[in-house]
Amino acid sequence: MKIFITGAKGQLGKEIIRQIEDRYPTYEVVATDIDNLDITCSDQVFDAILSAKPNVVINCAAYTNVDRCETNEYKAFSINGIGVQNLSAASFKVGAKLVQVSTDYVFDGTANHPYRETDSLNPINVYGASKKLGEDMARTLNPRHFIVRTAWLYGDGANFVKTMIRLGREKGKVKVVDDQVGSPTSTLLLARCILDLIHTDSYGVYHGTCQGSCSWYEFAKEIFKLADMDVEVTPTTTEEFGSPARRPAYSVLDNFMLKLIGLDSFVHWREGLEEYFEGGFIQQ
Ligand SMILES: NC(=O)c1ccc[n+]([C@@H]2O[C@H](COP(=O)([O-])OP(=O)(O)OC[C@H]3O[C@@H](n4cnc5c(N)ncnc54)[C@H](OP(=O)(O)O)[C@@H]3O)[C@@H](O)[C@H]2O)c1
Repeated sequence: MKIFITGAKGQLGKEIIRQIEDRYPTYEVVATDIDNLDITCSDQVFDAILSAKPNVVINCAAYTNVDRCETNEYKAFSINGIGVQNLSAASFKVGAKLVQVSTDYVFDGTANHPYRETDSLNPINVYGASKKLGEDMARTLNPRHFIVRTAWLYGDGANFVKTMIRLGREKGKVKVVDDQVGSPTSTLLLARCILDLIHTDSYGVYHGTCQGSCSWYEFAKEIFKLADMDVEVTPTTTEEFGSPARRPAYSVLDNFMLKLIGLDSFVHWREGLEEYFEGGFIQQ
């Protein structure tokens, strides 16, 4: 099996490569990132995929800075939309399966129940709209697609957990939004899920997040508890915090389709966070 990975230096890309080496040591991995393959460049994408002829393309590349997407709309739609168009068309041409990772931010956050895969999309910020375009491209251009929506992701890279630890160390107190609810999800669990999915022909859209839900404030409290840090955590509102991008108030996802095919291996978010701390991702 040959697996072609884009965004290989990002949080999820690194974890997928680590798990392939661990679980499937005979597999061949072609690891690419912006420095050797810009997914927005159609010629580069076609040359690379047509010469590698992979069995699976896993797209971990994305423009993930939600606030910066608001002022860099063109860049967001290029990377998160056109980049996926290129990868979808090229993977289709070589008969490869495609994994496109998407987000809870394709929903507007007004539901009163965890979102299922079939619920209507209505992104409320540029990032979400650009990721929706990526989903449309994957769905339209390569029928052998797995669109996996995840949320509040943390792994080996810049993320909320590391930001909290840094701010806690620097200031001893933090203010954290308490009126946005979601499901923090570790790259360890998401990578495990994606590597299970690619061994099936069960194409379609999946939700892949940890069980349970919390606000960013509750998430921060748990982070400091596990880090054994005495940090004053004060709840605040989205309005008071005042980020450039609007965010869904409630973006909990139900892993309904994974449950149906018997591949929902996600644990509760608190357990996922414990596993992350045990993995040594946080420098003491
Ligand atoms: N992080 C979250 O909270 C979250 C939540 C829901 C869904 N997701 C989705 O999960 C996936 C993985 O996220 P992540 O947190 O692992 O992302 P990440 O750490 O930001 O990694 C993305 C990687 O893509 C690279 N990249 C950017 N533009 C590129 C281009 N034009 N061509 C090739 N590579 C490019 C980035 O390089 P540079 O760093 O040099 O730009 C980076 O190495 C993404 O699809 C994201 O939308 C993330």
